[in-house]
Amino acid sequence: MKFDTPAGPNPIDRGRVIGIPHDRIDGAAKVTGSAPYAYERHDAAPNAAYGWMVGSAIAKGRIAAMDLRAAEAAPGVLGIVTHANAGKLGKGSMNTAPLLGGPQVDHYEQAVALVIADTFENARDAAKLVRIDYAAADGRFDLAADQARGVNPGKDADTAAGDFDGGFAKAAVKIDQRYTTPDHSHAMMEPHATTAAWNGDKLTLWTSNQMIAWGVGEVAKTLGIPKDNVRLVSPYIGGGFGSKLFVRADAILAALGAKQVGRPVKVAIARHQIPNNTTHRPATIQRIRIGANKDGVIDAIGHEVWSGDLPGGGPETAAQQTRLLYRGPNRMTAHRLVTLDLPEGNAMRAPGEAVGLLALEIAMDELAEACNVDPVELRIRNDVQYDPEAGPQRPFSSRKLVECLRTGADHFGWAKRDPKPGQVRDGRWMVGMGVAAAFRNNLVQKSGARIGVDAKGRIIVETDMTDIGTGSYTIVAQTAAEMLGVTLEQVTVRLGDSRFPVSAGSGGQWGANSATAGVYAAAMALRAKLAEQAGYPADQALFEDGLVKLANKSQTLASLAGRDGLWAEDSMDYGDLDKRYAQATFGAHFCEVGVDIDTAEVRVRRMGGAFAAGRILNPKSARSQVIGAMTMGVGAALMEALDVDTRFGFFVNHDMAEYMVPVHADIPQQDVLFIDELDDKSSPMKAKGVGELGICGAGAAVANAIYNATGLRLRDYPLTIDKLLKAQAA
Ligand code: MOS
Repeated sequence: MKFDTPAGPNPIDRGRVIGIPHDRIDGAAKVTGSAPYAYERHDAAPNAAYGWMVGSAIAKGRIAAMDLRAAEAAPGVLGIVTHANAGKLGKGSMNTAPLLGGPQVDHYEQAVALVIADTFENARDAAKLVRIDYAAADGRFDLAADQARGVNPGKDADTAAGDFDGGFAKAAVKIDQRYTTPDHSHAMMEPHATTAAWNGDKLTLWTSNQMIAWGVGEVAKTLGIPKDNVRLVSPYIGGGFGSKLFVRADAILAALGAKQVGRPVKVAIARHQIPNNTTHRPATIQRIRIGANKDGVIDAIGHEVWSGDLPGGGPETAAQQTRLLYRGPNRMTAHRLVTLDLPEGNAMRAPGEAVGLLALEIAMDELAEACNVDPVELRIRNDVQYDPEAGPQRPFSSRKLVECLRTGADHFGWAKRDPKPGQVRDGRWMVGMGVAAAFRNNLVQKSGARIGVDAKGRIIVETDMTDIGTGSYTIVAQTAAEMLGVTLEQVTVRLGDSRFPVSAGSGGQWGANSATAGVYAAAMALRAKLAEQAGYPADQALFEDGLVKLANKSQTLASLAGRDGLWAEDSMDYGDLDKRYAQATFGAHFCEVGVDIDTAEVRVRRMGGAFAAGRILNPKSARSQVIGAMTMGVGAALMEALDVDTRFGFFVNHDMAEYMVPVHADIPQQDVLFIDELDDKSSPMKAKGVGELGICGAGAAVANAIYNATGLRLRDYPLTIDKLLKAQAA
C-alpha cells in the first residue's frame, strides 16, 4: 500500500481500541519472568556453552603477541576465538571499527578474544589468563583540544538561508554563547546479549536488537555468509536507546564461538565492558548565535556543532532542530567532525535534538532575559508554521508548539514564576522554574506485516517489528483489533523474528507510527479477502463485534476464515508527503527545582510537559515513554557523563555505580499532557512518533530552572555541584 495523499476518514478513526489507555498485553509475561530474553533461551538452544569477551586494554595500536596456553588449559575451557582463528571477517555498514579486533586495535575494550567454557564462571576465570602484549600507538582523545581539526563531514552538514552574518551584525539584541555536552552512555537495563546456534550452515541468533532485517544483513556481511542462512530472533528487549540499532560484538562472537565449539554459545557483554566496547553518544561543543529585535523576535539564528568519532564515523547532528524550530529570515547551521580514537560514537536517545536542545533552549532563555520577555511568550513570538529554511511553500504537516506552551504553562502554574532569579526561598532551598520547547523530527519508514484470522476467529499478527520496552506489542494488537472489529483479547501478536515481514524496526521514534501503519496495510488486505469470502463489496462491509456485516446481514470471522484460516500480507510505503510537508513533533517542558543554599545540591521538585505528536495510539504507554524520556533529560542535565581519560583514551566511569542516571526518587512529580492532534500527512494512523520527544528539551528546562532559582548560568553539562559552587564563588 502506498501512502502519498493525506489520509481521509478510515477505520482507525472509530477509536474503539486505538487511543484507549490499555495495559500492555506483554505486561504479565514481563513481570512474571516468563518473557524470554536473548541470554535466557535455554528452551530454544539447550546445552549452550558460555562465552566471555576479552576487550583490548589499549585504545590504539596493535596486538604484538597473544599467549592463550594458560587460558586453554583452564578448567572447562572449550575454545577461544581470536582474529587468528576467526577467518576473514567483513565489516557491517554501521560499524566504524571491526567487532572483533586484532591485530590492529581501533579503540579501548574492542573485542579481541572470546573465551568459551562449560560454565559462565569458568569462561570468566579463563579469560583472565589470556595474555596479550600490545604495541600501543598515540591516539587523539580530547574533543576540546582538537576542536580546530573539525572537518565538514559532507551530506547535509551545513544549511543556510538569507544572510546570517549580516542579520546577526545588525541585530538589536545578540546572544553568542558556547555550550558543551559530554559523552553519554545508553545505560539500558539488558546488556547486549546473544545466544547463537548453528544447524549445518544455518545460523540462528537469539539476540537483543532493535532492527531485525538490518541486523540480518549486517551479520551476513560480517560473517561472509548468505542472508538466507541467518535468522535473528528478538521478541523481548530490555531497552536499547539506540545502542542495539546495530549488531554488536556479542552477536558476532557468539556466532563464531558456536561454530568453533560445535554447540550453542551465549555471550553477554558485561556491564563494565559496555560503555567502551559498544557505541555511545559523542560529546559536543556548540556555538549558538541569535540576533533579535528588542521584542525578542528572531532575525538571525546560527548553530554550529563540533563532535568526534573514529575514522569513518559521523557527526552528532545537534543543530537539526535549529533548522526548523524558530522563525528568522537569516540562518545557518553547521556540523564539524573531529577524528578521535575514543570508542565508537553513534545514535543514542534522540540523536541530534536531545543534545542540540540542551544548548538551544538555554540560549532562548538567555534571549528572553536579554529582551525582558517571558520565556514562554518569547517562544510563542518566534513560532513559525512552515520550514523556515525552505519558506512558506513547505508548511508543517501539523505543528502545535504554541498550544503546548500555553496549555503546559497553565497546567504547571507558570504564572507564579518570578522572572527575577534568586527570589524564591523554601527553607534551605532556592526555588526556581524553567521552560524549554521540545522538538523531534517525525520520520516515516516502510513497514510490513502479515495478518491472519484462524478457524476460531482469532487474529494473529506477525511482523519483525521489535518492542524495546516501548509498548509495540500492545499498539500493534490495538491496530489489528480496530481494523478487524474485534477486542484486544482476540489478537495474538508475534514480533521480532526475521521470518516475519520486514518492518520499520525501533529507532528514531518512527516505530509506533510506521509499524502500525504496516499493520493497517496488511489488515486492509485481509478485510478485502474476508469481504470477498462473504460475498460483500469490500468498501461497504463493516467489521465489528467479530462479524463482517453488510446492511442487516452478517457472518462471523471464524466462519469466513474456514479451517485453514485466511492470511494477508502487505506493507505501507511512503511517497513524498514528508518532502512536501515538514513533519515533526512538539512539546513544552516545565521544571521546578530547589538548589540547596549551602551545598548547591539540586533537587528536581516537579516536572510537567505538554506534547503534540499526532494521534496518541495508547495514552498509557505513550505517557510512560514521555516520562522515561523526561527522566533521561534530567540525567543529561544533572548527572550523566562518561569521563574521558584523555591520556589513555577510554571512559573511566564504565559501570552503573559511577555512570549516574536518575531514578524514581530523584523526581517526585511528573505530569504529561497530550494535546489533541491528528496528522493526516504522517500516515493512515494520523499518528507521529512520541518515544524520543520527551527527552528533547527536558534537560534545558532543568538548567533554566536552576538559573531562575540561583542566578547561576551554567552552559557545560551536566550541571553538577562542583560547577555550581565554582560559579557561585565567581
Ligand atoms: Mo534511536 S537513538 O534511533 O534507537
